[in-house]
Amino acid sequence: MRGLAQPAQMLTPELESLIARLPKAELHLHIEGSLEPELLFALAGRNGVKIPFRTVEEVRVAYRFSNLQDFLDIYYQGMAVLLTEQDFFDLTWAYLTRAKSDQVRHVEIFFDPQGHTQRGVAFDTVLSGIERALKTAEAQLGITYRLIMCFLRHLSEEEAFATLDEAMPHLARIHGVGLDSSELGHPPAKFARVFARARELGLHVVAHAGEEGPSEYVEEALDLLNVERIDHGNRALDDAALVRRIAREGLTLTVCPLSNLRLCVIGDMAQSPVARMLEQGLKATINSDDPAYFGGYVNDNYRAVAAALGLSAAQIVQLAENSFTGSFLPPEDVARHLAAVREAAR
Ligand code: HPA
Ligand code: ZN
Repeated sequence: MRGLAQPAQMLTPELESLIARLPKAELHLHIEGSLEPELLFALAGRNGVKIPFRTVEEVRVAYRFSNLQDFLDIYYQGMAVLLTEQDFFDLTWAYLTRAKSDQVRHVEIFFDPQGHTQRGVAFDTVLSGIERALKTAEAQLGITYRLIMCFLRHLSEEEAFATLDEAMPHLARIHGVGLDSSELGHPPAKFARVFARARELGLHVVAHAGEEGPSEYVEEALDLLNVERIDHGNRALDDAALVRRIAREGLTLTVCPLSNLRLCVIGDMAQSPVARMLEQGLKATINSDDPAYFGGYVNDNYRAVAAALGLSAAQIVQLAENSFTGSFLPPEDVARHLAAVREAAR
């Protein structure tokens, strides 16, 4: 299949410029997935942590994945260099300065506390470092944020409840919960009670669904977790009734084109579901997921998908608009950002 793929079309200079200048929000970004090889080496050195790579080139070779689990194994291994509050600050600040150059105005960032507390790093160390960078970016870069704590779905319901308990003293600093890690065999149903508790606590709820898992997992995320947004959602397109429902309910999907390609969720970029989603009235957005591992930040994702699918200027503007309407910002902020998108699109 891959060998037969059409070469990606060139983007016109007009569309290149449009993507570069459009204000946008990023709604699907794992902060631990923004750990670039250079920072991995710097933090390994600073903390005296041994890593199984000697050069950035060796790291890049290791970043060839054939599925989600291949990637997750390397992703959790990379986290080992993150130990101090300063490490989490440096990681998050590096992402935010990079996002700024892509005209990102608002971020809703995932973090994986269990990936750290299981290694003996305190919850508060993780949260404080990430939050300090987010607050600094708000003040210095004008980027607003929401913070979403994810449960690792390959771990138990009991461990997810324990993580929610650990987060309790910090709930004013956390805006929502999500569900990530190995999807197959770990359906949303496994976390229905944890999500019910999170909703009672007033937290926003989102979940990865339909990345590798079937459309039934997307349906479960809606029915059993009551998610406000679907992360990925590719496989929802397998079920026409589900597509109609998602369109009717106006749910946003956070699609990650380069991630889909690198994790072999799609065989080539021309198979990205973004255009089909828009055509069927779904609120698709473009996101980078784990940019250090998948070869690009948010604008790289817009460019790749726009070139491969031949998206129109109107569709690209729609994607940027969807990123704000799908955010957890209050309506007046969404309206202000939408006005800025339209102004930039002229
Ligand atoms: N899918 C599931 N879990 C993840 C991902 C992803 O793309 N990135 C980081 N954790
Ligand atoms: Zn993700």
